[in-house]
Amino acid sequence: MRVLLTGSTGFIGRRLLTKIIEEEGLHVRLLVRNKKAVSEQLAQRVESVEGDAFDTETLKNALRGIDVCYYFLHSLNVENYKQKDKELAQSFINIAEEMGVRRIIYLGGLGREEPTTSEHLLSRLETGNILSSSTKVQTIWFRAGVIIGSGSASFEIIRNLTEKLPVMTTPRSFQTPFLWTEELEI
Ligand SMILES: NC(=O)c1ccc[n+]([C@@H]2O[C@H](COP(=O)([O-])OP(=O)(O)OC[C@H]3O[C@@H](n4cnc5c(N)ncnc54)[C@H](OP(=O)(O)O)[C@@H]3O)[C@@H](O)[C@H]2O)c1
Repeated sequence: MRVLLTGSTGFIGRRLLTKIIEEEGLHVRLLVRNKKAVSEQLAQRVESVEGDAFDTETLKNALRGIDVCYYFLHSLNVENYKQKDKELAQSFINIAEEMGVRRIIYLGGLGREEPTTSEHLLSRLETGNILSSSTKVQTIWFRAGVIIGSGSASFEIIRNLTEKLPVMTTPRSFQTPFLWTEELEI
């Protein structure tokens, strides 16, 4: 099985990569913006395609011949990220269809489409809906709240706030229900 891992330099992707390269029968390909992020040792075990996911040719090269793809991309640190992530998801699903990808595995956030939901969670929902809109590619959509761990962007934002503010009032979107798991193994 040929697998594409996007976001392999990120908080989730880095951890998943250590697991999937141990699986027998998987040919793993990474999509990375900078090939220097792939160590020499790792480069012997995986294939990598360098480029930005917003670039159509890069996406075609990354998705060509792939059976299953992990979609761990977001543009949260970029201006106008909601529009950007919408465009990225649409382009991704179009090219995945064209390349005959069988399945996309997407990790989104929590929340529902309602007025109190934050823009970030609405954007993650929109991405999930777009990725799930294909009749040719199956999308498996996992959802998680903030994953607690050093380097996780959402967690770092919360840590930063708690270090600076003795008391914090929160917007209504903070009422999003969440589940607590004692232990999460990815
Ligand atoms: N962390 C959490 O608490 C949490 C909770 C629930 C759901 N999730 C979901 O899990 C997924 C991954 O989150 P994360 O925390 O691992 O994110 P992250 O640490 O910010 O990593 C994002 C990854 O995406 C890559 N990337 C972003 N834009 C790209 C582009 N245009 N082209 C190519 N690569 C690009 C980054 O590459 P560079 O290294 O080049 O920047 C990085 O590898 C997201 O869908 C997020 O919504 C995360």
